Amino acid sequence: MIIAVDGPAASGKGTIARALAAHYGLPHLDTGLLYRAVGITVARAGDNPDDPADALAGCVFADSLLDDPALRSEEAGPLASRVSRHPQVRAALLERQRAFARQPGGAVLDGRDIGTVIVPDADAKLFVTASLAERARRRHAELPGTTIESIAADIAARDARDAGRAAAPLKQADDADLLDTSDLSIGAAVQRAIALVNARLESR
Ligand code: CDP
Repeated sequence: MIIAVDGPAASGKGTIARALAAHYGLPHLDTGLLYRAVGITVARAGDNPDDPADALAGCVFADSLLDDPALRSEEAGPLASRVSRHPQVRAALLERQRAFARQPGGAVLDGRDIGTVIVPDADAKLFVTASLAERARRRHAELPGTTIESIAADIAARDARDAGRAAAPLKQADDADLLDTSDLSIGAAVQRAIALVNARLESR
């Protein structure tokens, strides 16, 4: 069984994807980490994330980088968003994501284009969203060093760039279920996600 979880920045999709993976006993891939690793690699090389060739060069990184806490920093999100605009970068990361999805038994992947591009035939697709104010509040709780206003501005700019790009833009797949977590606790959001996935599985 393959479950695709997409949605805008800080919507709760990672938490929901991890909980679904635990519930169904499936491996989970946070695909945002791949783009964050590319962004950080480009920045550390002193290269330009807006240049397609520089960004492509950043796609070669050691797997150990995926465990580096720097990937979760406030700087890494916008860097990831800038490199992820380039079709060359998306192509370079595509096979790795598809291979993970297609492993025996299936998987849960979260990102921006899992249900639209990476695994369009996923068994269940969720599009997780929440209000900008709520998303900024949650991210601020994770990264307390910055102001809510600057986090909200970063999230809004990133969503606009992710949704407006030509290559695999952030958008809800036609056959994805929408899950708005603005007014839901984590537990309630996870319960709702499980119910939506079960309904999809029963209707197959
Ligand atoms: O955790 P958060 O929602 O803030 O971001 P993330 O999922 O780690 O993704 C960071 C950035 O990587 C996003 O803003 C996108 O630009 C990009 N990304 C993407 O283009 N496609 C994906 N499948 C996942 C992330």
